[in-house]
This record gives sequence, C-alpha cells and structure tokens, in this order.
Amino acid sequence: MVSHGSQPVGGADTAVTRTPNPEAILRLGLAFWGSKTLLSAVELGVFTELAKGPLDGAELAARLGLHARSAHDFLDALVALGMLRCDESRYTNTVECDLFLDRHKPSYIGGMLEMANARLYPYWGRLTAALRTGEPQNEARTGGDFFTSLYADPERLRQFLRAMTGLSAGASAAIADKFPFARYDSVLDVGCAEGGLLVQLALAHPNLHGIGFDLPAVQAPYEDYVRSFDLDERLRFHAGDFFRDPLPEAKVVTLGHILHDWGLDEKRQLLRRAYEALPSGGVVIVFDAIIDNGRCANVFGLLMSLNMLIETKQGFDYTGADCQRWMHEIGFVNTEVVHLTGPDSMVVGIK
Ligand SMILES: C[S@@+](CC[C@H](N)C(=O)[O-])C[C@H]1O[C@@H](n2cnc3c(N)ncnc32)[C@H](O)[C@@H]1O
Repeated sequence: MVSHGSQPVGGADTAVTRTPNPEAILRLGLAFWGSKTLLSAVELGVFTELAKGPLDGAELAARLGLHARSAHDFLDALVALGMLRCDESRYTNTVECDLFLDRHKPSYIGGMLEMANARLYPYWGRLTAALRTGEPQNEARTGGDFFTSLYADPERLRQFLRAMTGLSAGASAAIADKFPFARYDSVLDVGCAEGGLLVQLALAHPNLHGIGFDLPAVQAPYEDYVRSFDLDERLRFHAGDFFRDPLPEAKVVTLGHILHDWGLDEKRQLLRRAYEALPSGGVVIVFDAIIDNGRCANVFGLLMSLNMLIETKQGFDYTGADCQRWMHEIGFVNTEVVHLTGPDSMVVGIK
C-alpha cells in the first residue's frame, strides 16, 4: 500500500505504513443492510422461486409481490452480495443458494435465517439494554422461560426447530464424518430438536440406533422429520426434561448447542447427567461454536455468546479448555477438542 506520510500501523504489517481508513468501520457498522437484505429474500422466497428456473426482473418481481420501486435495487443488491447471479437480464440462484435456500430441498438451511429475521433481528435491536442489564431481550423479557414461551406457539416452535437443523447441519455432517461411530451401536442426542444430528448420523452409519431426548412438545416435529428420511425404525424419541427426568442409556451421548443455553451450574449438571447415562468407556460429545482459548479468534463464537445474553437468563459460550475442565471435574478422561467446520468444534470425553 502506498504511504502518504502516515504513521506506521502496528501488528503484522509494522514494516508497511498505511493511511488510516474508516472503510472497515463503516462496512461493519452497516453490515446489517446486507444481512437484512438476505433475510428478507429468504422470507419472500426468492431462492425457492428461482430454483424453478431463471427469471427476468419483471417476472420475478411479480411472483414475489415486490413494489416497482424496490425490485430492481433489491435483486441487483442480491447479485452484488453474491447471493444471486444475473445472466443476460435473467436472475438465477448461485449453486449454494439453490442447494441451501430452496425451501423444497432437504438441504434447506433457511430455517435459521427465517428465525433470525422473525426473532433475532428485532431482539438484537435491544443489545445495549442487554449489555447494561444482563437480562434476556426476547420472549422471556416479560418474565417467562425462553423455551416455555417459544413453545407455546406451535408455529414458532417448528420455526425454531427447523432453524436448529439449519444451524447444526455443517457440524452434524462433520461429526458423522470425524467420530468413529462404526465402533458404537447407540447414540443419545440430548436436546435433539427435530433430529437433524441423528438423521445425519443414521444416514452415514447404518449400524447406529439413536434416541432423541427433548421436551414433549418436540415429539411430533421430530417424528415428522425423521419419518421424512425413512429412519423411524432406527431413531426413536424420548420425551422428558433433561434436568429432572432420567436420561436413557447409550454408548455415546451428544449435547449440541445445549450447554451454551445455561449458566455454569446447569452446564455441570448436564455433563454429570450425561456421565451417569453412559457405560464405562462410553463417550460424551459436546458441540458448540467453541471459543478459542485465547478468546480473540472465533468471532462467531463470541457473538453467539452475546446471542445467549439476549436469548437466555444465564447462558454463555465457552472455550475448549473450559469444557475440558468441567468434564475432568466430573470424571471424564482423555478429553479432546476437535474442529468440525467453520466456527464449530466438538469436545469429546470418555467415561
Ligand atoms: C439450542 S437447541 C439445540 C438443538 C440441537 N441439539 C442442535 O444442536 O441443533 C436446544 C434444545 O434443547 C431442548 N431443551 C431445552 N430445555 C430442555 C429441557 N429442560 N429438557 C429437554 N430438552 C430441552 C430444546 O427443546 C431444544 O431442542
């Protein structure tokens, strides 16, 4: 970069001088423009419509019900953001958006974005209040329990569970690939949502039988999802409260995006209950957007922890070293942190 008499900037490029530039600050400060454009595109079904075939702007705008004033800029912004392509005045999906954002494909991960649009976007508008008070800013703000208030509305329940499948899809595939399930015949997924992880494990490992454990309201969505993959013979549901009811026994117990929902006492309690459900030699797998031990690199993990500030009473994300320490306190041995994909890692411990 050319220097115009500015001060050297520290860090890796101390030998180089560069003129301070506000661009990165403004880009981050206004990043919600692009984010909300994508969320509205998912809400409007842009990618589902284009999965049927390329369309010109007028036809696509008519199908989506866009106002003439917005259509051109909205669709071209999606092209500029890398979410659509435009060839000879016809819009098409990118390969990724066609695979992951067409509601009719089993690979759809837009549930997470639908929930982000409907819930997280307005609730994150109250981040400053959460930072000052330490109080959740979602449905629970009026005093209710997050899951109880969310699950009181069947539509929001399904939306949340579908969002979990989307959020965990990459990590679930990586666990199926990286953990030696060929050596184990049973797995219990504690807080299984609609069964996204168990389905991926069962598809990849024909030897495996699974139990999804979750609150009673989750049973019907779980069974619908599992049946859609013809896996209902191998994957059953066990309704219960993981703080009160006994956990069914299995050789492997998984806890995906569970520990970060809770305070430290509950985190330890859940790990202890997993320990009790395992035979000697059994394995616990905890996965989350595990924060790096230096707490400076995994941006998504750190922001996820702020999301827990907004969504829960005491939840927080944690480092691999934190989780290993809690596991050792309970009696797990040979603990190991294994990177999965993107911001996600698993922490594995043996009983
Ligand atoms: C953040 S979601 C994680 C879902 C899934 N494991 C994943 O990684 O995508 C938390 C799950 O825990 C379940 N859950 C919350 N409280 C529970 C309780 N007391 N007993 C059993 N399940 C509970 C919720 O219904 C939800 O499915």
